[in-house]
Amino acid sequence: MNILGIESTCDETGVAVVRNGREVLVNLLASSVNLQKKYGGVVPEIAAREQTRVIVPLIDQALSIVPKDHVDAIAVSYGPGLVGSLVIGVESAKVFAYAWQKPLIGVNHLVGHFFANWIGRGEAIKFPAVALIVSGGHTDLLFFKNLKRYQLLGSTLDDAAGEAFDKVSKFLGLGYPGGPEIELKARKFKFKSSNLKVNPFPKPMIGSGDFNFSYSGLKTAVVNHVDRQQTTDYRKEEVCYFFQEAVVDVLVSKTLTAAKRFGAKSIVVGGGVAANGRLREVLSEKAGDLKAFFPEKKFSVDNGAMIGAAAFFQQNFVDPLKLTADSGLHF
Ligand code: KG4
Ligand code: ZN
Repeated sequence: MNILGIESTCDETGVAVVRNGREVLVNLLASSVNLQKKYGGVVPEIAAREQTRVIVPLIDQALSIVPKDHVDAIAVSYGPGLVGSLVIGVESAKVFAYAWQKPLIGVNHLVGHFFANWIGRGEAIKFPAVALIVSGGHTDLLFFKNLKRYQLLGSTLDDAAGEAFDKVSKFLGLGYPGGPEIELKARKFKFKSSNLKVNPFPKPMIGSGDFNFSYSGLKTAVVNHVDRQQTTDYRKEEVCYFFQEAVVDVLVSKTLTAAKRFGAKSIVVGGGVAANGRLREVLSEKAGDLKAFFPEKKFSVDNGAMIGAAAFFQQNFVDPLKLTADSGLHF
């Protein structure tokens, strides 16, 4: 089954064709990130204008590679996200599905991040699984009994992990998106040359006994710490290193506790922060025999292929005349 997946929940427009949830036949991505950089974050109006401009040409380009007659269904992420951006993807998908008389599948964007792990992977991911979805807007821990049945274990009470990366990056005068910038600086840091022998930042809620997260206090701790000293390049690397360690430690600790408590057979990570090399390293190492799965980096951040993959496994068929964007959708 070939599914045309459409993603337009934030500043990216992704269009892909995926066969049987695993094999990517086409994967196209347009981003307004360069237009957003000078604002240090996403301006919804700019994102939506850009999406209006690129979405139909992207679909057209995808169909020049996989002709329409070889597309069995259309899938679209209908939430959560920025309402203006969502409407563009959802309404485009509805029009094409209706005009071509193809089935339409609605995908929760967050579930899409989970299924990004099936792309290009022949290996079976074993259930039950614990999933960590970490993006710019969400930090969620879930228990997946099987492909279709899941339960939310906990979420962030304030900022998402990706949001904390973005805010700290902006505060330090680094670029947007913040995750890759901070990761790069942290990698340059030489622990041995630092006066700091222990992490000066808190690891919020690490011992809270539940599966919720909080990142806004950590962000404030960084701001207070940096205010007290000169921000040389070296200091920025140091702050990035310890900040990233704090974020990663909390994510890893809660994920492993959940995996143990619920008898998970695998750990599945998704969302933009899943591209973080340090998170991959620490979680994979500490998980021991329990395998931690991460999508390929380009499928960790927003993309159309994960929507095509999730649609195949969930097959949530919807009426093209009735689907509506839901910006507040959660698990
Ligand atoms: O999933 P995503 O592309 O969009 C949302 O659904 O939000 O995630 C974007 C987030 C941004 O906050 C970005 O800074 C973060 O993912 N991110 C990273 C890395 N790459 C992207 N965070 C940490 N390390 C990275 N390498
Ligand atoms: Zn996302």
